[in-house]
Amino acid sequence: MPAADWKQSVVYQIYPRSFCDSNGDGVGDLPGITSRLDYLKALGVDVVWLSPVYRSPNDDNGYDISDYRAIMDEFGTMADFDTMLAGMHARGIRLMMDLVVNHTSDEHPWFQQARQSRDNPYHDYYIWRDMPADSSLPNNWEAAFSGSVWEPNPATGEYYLHMFSKKQPDLNWENPKVRQEVYALMRFWLDKGVDGFRMDVINMISKPAGLPDAPVIRAGHLQPSFGMVTNGPRLLEFLREMKAQVLDHYETLTVGEAPLATIQQGQDITNVYTGALNMLFQFEHMDLDAIPGDGRGKWALKPLALTDLKASMSRWQDALWQTGWNSLYLSNHDQPRPVSRWGDDGVYRVASAKMLATFLHGLQGTPYVYQGEELGMTNVRFARIEDYRDIETLNMYREAVQDRHEAPAEVLARIHVKSRDNARTPMQWDATAHGGFTTGTPWMQTNPNHTEVNAAQARDDADSVWHYYRRLIALRKQLPVLVEGRYALLQPEDPNVYAYIRTLGDEVLLVVCNFTPREQVFVLPPNVAFEQQQLLIANYVVNAADSVRACTLRPFEARMLVLR
Ligand code: NOJ
Repeated sequence: MPAADWKQSVVYQIYPRSFCDSNGDGVGDLPGITSRLDYLKALGVDVVWLSPVYRSPNDDNGYDISDYRAIMDEFGTMADFDTMLAGMHARGIRLMMDLVVNHTSDEHPWFQQARQSRDNPYHDYYIWRDMPADSSLPNNWEAAFSGSVWEPNPATGEYYLHMFSKKQPDLNWENPKVRQEVYALMRFWLDKGVDGFRMDVINMISKPAGLPDAPVIRAGHLQPSFGMVTNGPRLLEFLREMKAQVLDHYETLTVGEAPLATIQQGQDITNVYTGALNMLFQFEHMDLDAIPGDGRGKWALKPLALTDLKASMSRWQDALWQTGWNSLYLSNHDQPRPVSRWGDDGVYRVASAKMLATFLHGLQGTPYVYQGEELGMTNVRFARIEDYRDIETLNMYREAVQDRHEAPAEVLARIHVKSRDNARTPMQWDATAHGGFTTGTPWMQTNPNHTEVNAAQARDDADSVWHYYRRLIALRKQLPVLVEGRYALLQPEDPNVYAYIRTLGDEVLLVVCNFTPREQVFVLPPNVAFEQQQLLIANYVVNAADSVRACTLRPFEARMLVLR
């Protein structure tokens, strides 16, 4: 995708399992997506990021791939895929596929071969360690979905490495054949006409020599291990090779998912001249409501301090200015719903959903909208663990309740706040049964609030979250300052209001967001000079005479203005 194009783009993420079911089997599918393309066009998005649709045993909902060149049966056929892609292109929408190549499924033929014997030609496609007589583990790394990263393979007397579930063995990127396989499958999809890739945990592909123990931060043997693999010695080399051998030969849009990415890594990977990808999903802001250094990771809850969010976002805005590019997100299939997390999913649901959108879409970078975010969809609170589906959630619950004897109600309370399933309940299309997602029984229950929160209602209501997103997305196409303007944070110490400006030539864009359910007085710093103010978008009615120089912001009020 030409550079000028993607910098104005807004990306919409589809989690296919939960988007739209066309055949009543309770699982979203490709014809379901095709049937909703006019909805995406009306919203105004330019690009779709499609979570994995490849053949998979679904241990991790498609992030465990057993055939990179086939479509998952539940989702349809390759012909359905081609129809969907043509439908997107006919509407001027481009498609970014999910590229999951840090690991495969254990049911992938490569792994099926590899595990048979040490001299199998595929053995070196994966990462192995001898299993000693006492079965002691090669290191103290804990896997993302609980337990050790090492799983025994009796046929070879070894352990294999899996950073995620034991059904997701890590590929050995040190092996040049693995890299060539990956490049070949990327070409397969690019030759079909897809427009780019979202690269799953791509900063984990280069493992450190010797796989040394992780620092000990809690009692017990296993320790958080992502920090050991997210900045590997050959990461940039591998990405540059991928660029030279594949990406440079097509017009692509690329975003790398990069847990624990540092600013330096963000600069290196997205550098326009020397980097390899257009942008990264960094996680710093997603980690701000977890207690740092606590061995429970994301489940160690703490409230967000707005000053931390300001500091983090501002550092990234400044660091990637002109040399790299940010991706902007509050939401995806791994995160709880932002309106429940940092807004208010009660009386201020609509106001706070719009406020969070204003905050995000005013920043520099490429905004991502995750399905349902444009409706202000909320977290779900299932009362029983049996209603959850996510492997991370289920494994955490089992460890906490069965192994550590924590009270089930307390563990469920954490799940209500942070589970990935909060984002994965079916898309709420209308007020009918199952939110119009399926005519059958959905693979996971629909959020009961679909009777009020749904796309049909939102499109009929000119004041809805949906129409607000549509207007924000349109603004990005009209205002160069939104794309190019230099960011500056105002009032870094204010714990309640996040205000910033973006400057391009004489034009100043001002974004003011009240992150609280209370009124807040806002006073613009005197050095921001202007004669005229033009309101671009706001989530409350703003009196034309009401100067932004000093004003009272209502609960979760947001305004975006141009000052001249
Ligand atoms: C990140 C994906 O977004 C997540 O859903 C998945 O579980 C892991 N990577 C493993 O592929």
